[in-house]
Amino acid sequence: MKEKDDQRSLHHHHHPRFHNRLLHLIKKLLTNPTAYFILLLLFYALGYISTASSCTQPPPPPPQSHVSSSRPSVIQSTNLPPTLLDNFRVTTDCADSIPPQLVRPTILDKIFNGSSPYTNFPPPHVSQLLRRSRIKGWGSYGAVFKHLINKVKPRVIIEVGTFLGASALHMSNLTRQLGLDTQILCIDDFRGWPGFRDKLNDIQMINGNVLLYYQFMQNVIYHDATELVLPVPFSSGSALMKLCEWGVAGDLIEIDAGHDFNSAWADINRAWRILRPGGVIFGHDYFTAADNRGVRRAVNLFAKINGLQIHTDGQHWVIYSSVNQ
Ligand SMILES: C[S@@+](CC[C@H](N)C(=O)[O-])C[C@H]1O[C@@H](n2cnc3c(N)ncnc32)[C@H](O)[C@@H]1O
Ligand SMILES: *[C@@H]1O[C@H](CO)[C@@H](O)[C@H](O)[C@H]1NC(C)=O
Ligand SMILES: *[C@@H]1O[C@H](CO)[C@@H](O)[C@H](O)[C@H]1NC(C)=O
Repeated sequence: MKEKDDQRSLHHHHHPRFHNRLLHLIKKLLTNPTAYFILLLLFYALGYISTASSCTQPPPPPPQSHVSSSRPSVIQSTNLPPTLLDNFRVTTDCADSIPPQLVRPTILDKIFNGSSPYTNFPPPHVSQLLRRSRIKGWGSYGAVFKHLINKVKPRVIIEVGTFLGASALHMSNLTRQLGLDTQILCIDDFRGWPGFRDKLNDIQMINGNVLLYYQFMQNVIYHDATELVLPVPFSSGSALMKLCEWGVAGDLIEIDAGHDFNSAWADINRAWRILRPGGVIFGHDYFTAADNRGVRRAVNLFAKINGLQIHTDGQHWVIYSSVNQ
């Protein structure tokens, strides 16, 4: 409302022609609630991308062929001026996807200097601080995992948000039972969230460095799943972006990291780009009590903009990349 009034008062002054047209466009957009929301997101993204890219990321190389070129994107389905849309680009184009059997060696090579992170685990200074197995999950054993793994028979699963590995190890059980040769990549910064020790105070720290990553690895080893499960121990944004650049695509992608709107929105959009055609993306907390944290709103907006259908399974949302499924 306030923005609208401001625009109106601005309009009485003289502006260069471009500005008038832009204001006219913005005014038009403001009368449509969906477009208004997209515009807000766009301005948010402009600020976000310009700060994020200023420190670490090199400028994007020229476009190559990519995994998801044929899919609708946020950009194509709106009618915003191309000059603004250029800035809305999330990242560079994804590389052609590599075959599933190359996913593990690629991750080992690019992230772990060519050797398994489980080798010589645990390091001596940590071993006394770990439990043999310590798992705590949220909705990690829902029927949705079995349903989707039976249906998709995934060769590559990408999990965004792993914590101690409850859902990842559950999925490794399921793929093993089906005799599938499935690689499960677990994207998590393994920090939890500030104050998570209120809920789980038996995870030890070394100088304030919480040992979630080591306890997760210990859990994987305890469940004899080191060949099936690999950590990708970085923030979801940077990890998903790199997988896209390396051509690592998922048949099944689970979103369960940050549950605020902005986190969920970014994770879903980035994950969608590396979903193999015919694959399925799904996530937790569509139906948990009072979803005011934003997962449901992010999923709904994503589906609406891209013309996709949302299915639900227990507390989870599910989106198929192809309408025939
Ligand atoms: C709800 S827990 C995941 C639970 C897990 N799927 C299970 O079933 O037990 C959320 C996880 O997301 C991770 N996380 C949150 N924001 C993240 C981000 N931006 N990048 C990477 N990991 C993140 C946290 O470290 C935490 O382990
Ligand atoms: C990475 O691997 C190379 C070759 O095997 C080795 O010389 C180097 O020390 C390794 N670096 C780290 C950080 O482990
Ligand atoms: C996996 O299956 C084994 C044996 O069937 C069971 O003991 C274990 O608890 C399961 N692990 C998870 C994380 O579901």
